[in-house]
Amino acid sequence: MSNDDKRPWPQAGRERMIFPTPIDICAFGVKDPHDELLAKMDQGSVFMMGDNPALPRMPEKPTLIDFFNLRFTGMTLHHLTTAAKRAYDEGCSEKVIMACLLHDIANGCLLRTDHGYWGAQLIAPYVDEEVAWAVKYHQALRYTPDPAVGYPYPEAYKKFFGEDYDPPAYIKRDAAYAMQHPWYMTARYVTMYDLYFFDDVEPVKIEFFADIIARNFRQPEEGLGYDDSPSSHMWRTMIWPNNFL
Ligand SMILES: [Fe+2]
Ligand SMILES: [Fe+2]
Repeated sequence: MSNDDKRPWPQAGRERMIFPTPIDICAFGVKDPHDELLAKMDQGSVFMMGDNPALPRMPEKPTLIDFFNLRFTGMTLHHLTTAAKRAYDEGCSEKVIMACLLHDIANGCLLRTDHGYWGAQLIAPYVDEEVAWAVKYHQALRYTPDPAVGYPYPEAYKKFFGEDYDPPAYIKRDAAYAMQHPWYMTARYVTMYDLYFFDDVEPVKIEFFADIIARNFRQPEEGLGYDDSPSSHMWRTMIWPNNFL
């Protein structure tokens, strides 16, 4: 947030209560504070809506680069930029570089589960169809070796999930579909530049890709999240992850 940002904070003068995201209540057993928080409303507290001062403040018209810098976890940012840099250094097309840069974007600040599918929907209105396709299918292809192009089952996955992990049927179905598709190699390159252990990899700033993003990502004039695309609400969820409704 820049120091000359004079926008007032919403809901001034009141305690702003944060209700946990239902998936966290379900997945982690976070206590459902429903009754307790409703009771506090009688004492003047409100449920949080809009900018949360505990998070870096997003500009009024956020760009893709703002999400990388102000919302994504450090690990995701590093992972995405280094994957894209590998593709760049190998002389890949800008579509492949963009797919690498965006492949795990759902993990940045939204959801991990089925991240390829979520990520593809998030970016679909703004990128070439082939880029969103590659992001969707990289998830299934990561589990699927292809000796013909030199892609083995990842050693990292043996550690992540155990040697005996067997992916579910929809992953196998979608990988088989992707492998006979004309865009197969775009998604396959994503899996080939997808590094998990990168102690020795120099961090790359997202700004390195500014020109490629400008050519390949349709930044909406209103700001990402405030436009009216089929995935605007997903970007808004990252801007305001604490909104009650
Ligand atoms: Fe991934
Ligand atoms: Fe990845």
